[in-house]
Amino acid sequence: MKSRSILFILVVLMATFQAFTQESGRVILTPKPGPEPRIHGARIFGVRPGSPFLFTIPATGTRPMKYEAVDLPAGLSINSDNGQITGSLAKKGAYRVTFRVTNAYGKAERDFRIVCGDTIALTPHMGWNSWYVWENHVTEKIMKDAADAMVSTGLADHGFMYVNIDDCWAMKAGSKDSLLIGPGRDSLGRINSNGRFPDMKGLTAYIHAKGLKAGIYTSPGPTTCAGHTGSYMHEASDVKRFIEWGFDFLKYDWCSYGNYAKDTTLAEYEKPYILMGHILKKQRRDIVLNLCQYGMADVWNWGREVGGNSWRTAGDLGGSFDDIGKALFRDGFDLYAQRNLQRYCGPGAWNDPDYLLIGNLSNWKGQIVPTPLTPDEQYTQVSLWCLLAAPLILSGDITRLDEFTLSLLTNNEVLDVDQDPLGKGGYRISKTGDLEVWAKPMEDGSWAVGLFNRGETRANVSLHWNDLKIKGRQKVRDLWRQKDLGVFEQSFSSEVRPHGVIMVRLCKEL
Ligand code: GLA
Repeated sequence: MKSRSILFILVVLMATFQAFTQESGRVILTPKPGPEPRIHGARIFGVRPGSPFLFTIPATGTRPMKYEAVDLPAGLSINSDNGQITGSLAKKGAYRVTFRVTNAYGKAERDFRIVCGDTIALTPHMGWNSWYVWENHVTEKIMKDAADAMVSTGLADHGFMYVNIDDCWAMKAGSKDSLLIGPGRDSLGRINSNGRFPDMKGLTAYIHAKGLKAGIYTSPGPTTCAGHTGSYMHEASDVKRFIEWGFDFLKYDWCSYGNYAKDTTLAEYEKPYILMGHILKKQRRDIVLNLCQYGMADVWNWGREVGGNSWRTAGDLGGSFDDIGKALFRDGFDLYAQRNLQRYCGPGAWNDPDYLLIGNLSNWKGQIVPTPLTPDEQYTQVSLWCLLAAPLILSGDITRLDEFTLSLLTNNEVLDVDQDPLGKGGYRISKTGDLEVWAKPMEDGSWAVGLFNRGETRANVSLHWNDLKIKGRQKVRDLWRQKDLGVFEQSFSSEVRPHGVIMVRLCKEL
């Protein structure tokens, strides 16, 4: 009798919990990966001739797994225990490779293209950045823990690759923290890291050993936004230093450069980025260049030309903690639709609406707290970013990801939209009041579509084939749930929660 009443209480509690999570929208839709191997992530990877090559095959499945890459071009080799492909390619060329991953439960195969040429970042960057959780407290230990977490959480198995230090690794004149005080540069003019980063080379080696890549940050001005040493007049020597240290990614943040630009002409906005673009092009190491100047002078018009692989399209999405939700709609939806930003991105060069602000973040008052975005807004951010072909850089605490947050970052069918090799940016195809439909053409001829509800109450959102200029019977698949919804003609409608989204893919019925 006693155990029956305990069971009853448990059932009631579980039902209440389920009702509560459903009401709040904190519902996990992403199916859990099975024990059998599955290969994920980008299907194409760019490298320049002579640059060190590192790409790790992202795959889920029970370990141990055996990795193979069939038809790997000369110069590259694979570690069959961990899927890391390393080496370098001497000549330009495009290579078709087959990845194969095997474990006790089965085998997975996937076609992959390696393109050795002038262009890197053929799909949007995926990774983690320290800023929105650790801001000016970042340390070497935090970065190592982040690399560990990228692997242990399984994010690396889904294609997350870059572990990027933001501001605050260099010295800071006038700081109260003794670890940050010291000469900004050594006697040879080489930039110094501060006492929180005693061994940069060791740090990147640690990150690389996990098959991941390392990112660093500096400013074209003499100081960074947080007042640390910047690269003004030391651009080439700083790049040399970053390469000696082993970095693969550079965020170049305007900051104090504003005081050195002569005027507000386009030429002055472009100048520091042209300089950095030239320097990086000459190196025998591929460094992804992320321009961070908040969208000034319509950077999307010239970001690619100056050598940028991505450019921030607006100010800091999380600059005001309480307004992240508002910023998401303003700097995501509105800016991209009004300026038709899809026209500017493509393989090698991406619009960057800033980081994924999910999980735990700094509230800029000395605490790390859960994101203010509602669960629906979190689905909305990830869905929109994938439709925009935006870099997917998490900036919440990667070492404390709950199951819900992790589920938002590990849905392969959703991530495939972002990483599609065609590299088209999505755009708004219809807007009816608060209801918006966004669509992205995919390489296989299908369409990825987001049905968004920016309003405060549940509403029915409709997608009409006419708006996509397509005809006939289309198979519709719900990407978050990974479920086929049926075959539709002319239109598809679904109820969407307030500030929420339904994300689907449309394939012509053959
Ligand atoms: C600027 C950038 C942010 C971050 C900070 C660091 O605000 O836009 O992304 O890098 O600087 O100080």
